[in-house]
Formats: sequence, C-alpha cells, structure tokens
Amino acid sequence: MPEDQPAHLYIENLCAFYGQSLAIEPTTLPIPRQQVTAIIGPSGCGKSTLLRSLNRLHETLPGARNEGAVWLDGENIFDPDVDPIIVRRRIGMVFQQPNPLRGRTIAQNVTIGLELDGASKQECDEAVERSLKLTALWDEVKDRLNDPAMDLSGGQQQRLCLARSLAVEPEVILMDEPASALDPIATLRIEDLVKELVSEYTIIIVTHNMQQAGRVSDNTVFMTLGDQGAGMVAEAGPTSEIFTTPANRKTEDYITGRFG
Ligand SMILES: Nc1ncnc2c1ncn2[C@@H]1O[C@H](COP(=O)(O)OP(=O)(O)OP(=O)(O)O)[C@@H](O)[C@H]1O
Ligand SMILES: [Mg+2]
Repeated sequence: MPEDQPAHLYIENLCAFYGQSLAIEPTTLPIPRQQVTAIIGPSGCGKSTLLRSLNRLHETLPGARNEGAVWLDGENIFDPDVDPIIVRRRIGMVFQQPNPLRGRTIAQNVTIGLELDGASKQECDEAVERSLKLTALWDEVKDRLNDPAMDLSGGQQQRLCLARSLAVEPEVILMDEPASALDPIATLRIEDLVKELVSEYTIIIVTHNMQQAGRVSDNTVFMTLGDQGAGMVAEAGPTSEIFTTPANRKTEDYITGRFG
C-alpha cells in the first residue's frame, strides 16, 4: 500500500470471480476514512459483488473468489493470517432486505455477535441501549425489547439490522441499497443515520437512487460494464464533481438517466 495513503480502506487490483467468470476487473480505489462513499451504476455491473468482497463475504459463495488486496489500515484482509470473522466484525454490512434473525427478540438481535464472543449480560444490555440509540430506534422499542424482532416495521427492522452490526463496534459499514425496500419516510431516516454515523464510521453505500447518492455521500464511484462484460470503476471522485462535471461520458449518461 502506498505509504502516504490516508485511505481507511485501500482497494488494490481487486478482482472478483464467480467460477471461471470475471465479475469485476482489477480495481484500485481508495476509500477515505469517516466519509460516505456512494457506489452507483447499472444493474449487474458488480456493485454488490464489490461490496461483499470488501468483508470477505463474496468468497463464501461456492466457486466465488477474489484476487488482489484490500488494505484495512495497512493490513490486507485477504492475508492468510487474517481471520475472516474478524474482518466481518471490523467491516459490518447491512443488506437490501432487512434480515433480522427470526425467532430472536429485538434485544437478542442486537447482541448476537457479542453473545458469540462470550460477552456478559451487562455488556450485552449496554450494547443494546447504545446501538439502538445510535440507530434512533431506542425510544421506539425500549419498552418492547423482548418482543420478536419480526414484529417491527420494515424501516424499524432495517435500523435494527444496522444496530446489530454496530453492536460489535465496526470501523467500516457497508450498505447495499439499504433503503430500497423502504417507504420515503423510512428512507430519509436511514439517510439521516448515515449522515450522523459518518462522524465515527467509514461508510460505503450502494444505491440506485441518484438523489440519495447526492444527499448522503462525500464521494461517488460510478461502476459500469467493461468491454469484456465484467464490472469496472469508470469514474470516482467527490460527489459534487461527479454530479456536475463528470469526466466520463458514460457517467454523465447514467446520472442524467440516458443509460442504465
Ligand atoms: N451467485 C452468483 N453466481 C454467479 N454469478 C453471479 C452471482 N451473483 C451475481 N452474479 C453476476 O455477477 C455480476 C454482478 O452482479 P452484482 O449482483 O454484483 O451486480 P449489481 O451491480 O449489484 O446489480 P444490481 O444493481 O441489480 O443489484 C452479474 O453479471 C451477476 O449476474
Ligand atoms: Mg446489487
């Protein structure tokens, strides 16, 4: 990794394969610390694959693998000595569909990671309150912490899933279209949370919603399909520049709705 690289995550020549098929061409990309980076681009260009590669989830699919490096504060997450469980703790993820653990209560959803670590009841209780406050859910659920998580609305479930990933105190949060299944009000709540959390966390968010990328992100990465049919980064930079003066014609066509 370059010595003077201030990035929190430095993606270096990262490729992703499904079996023999190359899904993402070699990609090099710095992800600045405590900023929001939005990933945009047409369906199938590899946004989710890239995101899942960043916390070693991609490789858990049969036949799927990565090449290249992702440096997290100077350590390559793919180094053989690195435990993928620890990587996923430091780099948490929230998915498109809220996925609370069925059969567990609201509180138990927050504490699952801590329980696996052998945390005490007191540590778990503290984490529940802290994480639910961070996701602005505490006031809504503090009197029903022992109710099934599945009783919550979709927007509440998504904030619970965010609380679950925050409970293990990650440094980076990956969000794959976290609001696309939510109504406009719940969407704005998620966006507000992103804007608050970025003072402490590095956030990468995939979105199809250009307005959302414009509202929440500091940096935007535009992905597209290369000539070989694999995903690639066509352009990346400050959101204000990408949205006003894109250097790449494909970026301009995409953000103005002419393509994708
Ligand atoms: N489990 C899988 N097995 C094989 N190929 C896959 C798998 N998941 C995704 N792909 C392929 O990898 C490519 C990138 O898919 P990916 O889901 O990363 O795209 P995306 O940009 O997130 O799309 P969308 O905007 O629709 O979510 C696509 O060609 C897709 O068909
Ligand atoms: Mg996707």
